[in-house]
Amino acid sequence: MSITRRLERVYNIEDMRKLAQGALPGPIWHYLDGGADDEITMARNSGAFNDWALAQSTLVDVTSTDTTCDLIGMPAAMPLMLSPTGMSQLFHASGELSVARAAGAAGVPYGLSTMATTSMEAIARSGVSRYFQLYLFRDRGLTEALLERAKTYGYSAIALTTDTNVAGNRERDLRSGMVMPPRFTLDSLLSFAAHPRWALGALRNRSFELANIVQHVGDLDASGTNVIDYVNGQFDRSASWRDLEWLRARWQGKLVVKGAMLPADCEAAVDCGADAIMVSNHGGRQLDGTGAPIDYLPAIRDRVQDRAQLIIDGGIRRGTHVLKALALGANGCSIGRPYLYGLAAGGQLGVERVLKLFRSEIERGMALMGRRRVDEITSRDIHHLSAFARLPVSVAARDRKEVPELNDR
Ligand code: FNR
Repeated sequence: MSITRRLERVYNIEDMRKLAQGALPGPIWHYLDGGADDEITMARNSGAFNDWALAQSTLVDVTSTDTTCDLIGMPAAMPLMLSPTGMSQLFHASGELSVARAAGAAGVPYGLSTMATTSMEAIARSGVSRYFQLYLFRDRGLTEALLERAKTYGYSAIALTTDTNVAGNRERDLRSGMVMPPRFTLDSLLSFAAHPRWALGALRNRSFELANIVQHVGDLDASGTNVIDYVNGQFDRSASWRDLEWLRARWQGKLVVKGAMLPADCEAAVDCGADAIMVSNHGGRQLDGTGAPIDYLPAIRDRVQDRAQLIIDGGIRRGTHVLKALALGANGCSIGRPYLYGLAAGGQLGVERVLKLFRSEIERGMALMGRRRVDEITSRDIHHLSAFARLPVSVAARDRKEVPELNDR
């Protein structure tokens, strides 16, 4: 069956996940799909949305719905953007460029990772609304050079990732012996041979490198570096709030902190001059056992008020997840694995399909909630499940209106 036909039969992100799993050799699949330790946080990121119920306002004229908004100073066709993910050419030889083109076509901002396998210049040429994700390297000269290039190539924002001072414990990668770039060892050969389309793409792809930092970190192929060893070796473990101030002083565009979760940390980031926070635990790939971004969101919004945009990142798999996040105070959401599933399954077409699914789910959800615009979605549109626990069981109790927040429409 052609890729196009297969993609047409993808009705949700879980369908796309399965297609991606079939397309990728085991080690690559587990690197994409896995999380840290017992993957409890990874599961909670999506699962926590089930603790909340959307309110369903009825008999509202929703002849037209408008999903447009502003995300970190960039116009967006819907309240969704693409998170930075390293080494996208692992999943499809067309890598970041396909993702950027699909994002551009869908009108959503794209975040290019420091660890990308496509250059900042090439992504800029695609014309997508873009921001650059920064890791603080021990080599500050490298960080400054990246900032300079981000400015030259029109990246409107810098997102500083703050949750990766050491690498998370990804046991799936340890078991599969995942190295970057992938090695054609005897062990992996069988798995690669079982995925000829992927293997052919990888073999033909001569440009696999960490395109934006290659001059500084050298040729990974020569060392066959384990991902975890690499992160532990290069990133600055001593990074602190002073470094955020250092960055603020050097970057005139929008500044985003990616990886703050606690209300006090988010407030401190805003005090240092951050314009937005990506509330994130790296998709459950770093500290296992921490809560989901959505768990912290209401308290963060209370703390920072309207001083910064809040973007929820991690576990977003449905349009209704986005709508719940908006109702709890987010300005938008961001996705990582879902678009990578699309990329692995069908290159640019696969990512386009993922974005189309989100778009239609968000639009449909808004209509069914009786909301026409993104900024109409507020706290009246959501209830925590604990509110229902207080529902009276008898009609008499119900008539006393013991649950005003549910009755107050
Ligand atoms: C990531 N993520 C990530 N984050 C970052 O700041 N820099 C990076 O280079 C990467 N690389 C990366 C690779 C892969 C394969 C994944 C899956 C994730 C984290 C990413 O930006 C985002 O926070 C999560 O992916 C969000 O969770 P979901 O949407 O994947 O559940």
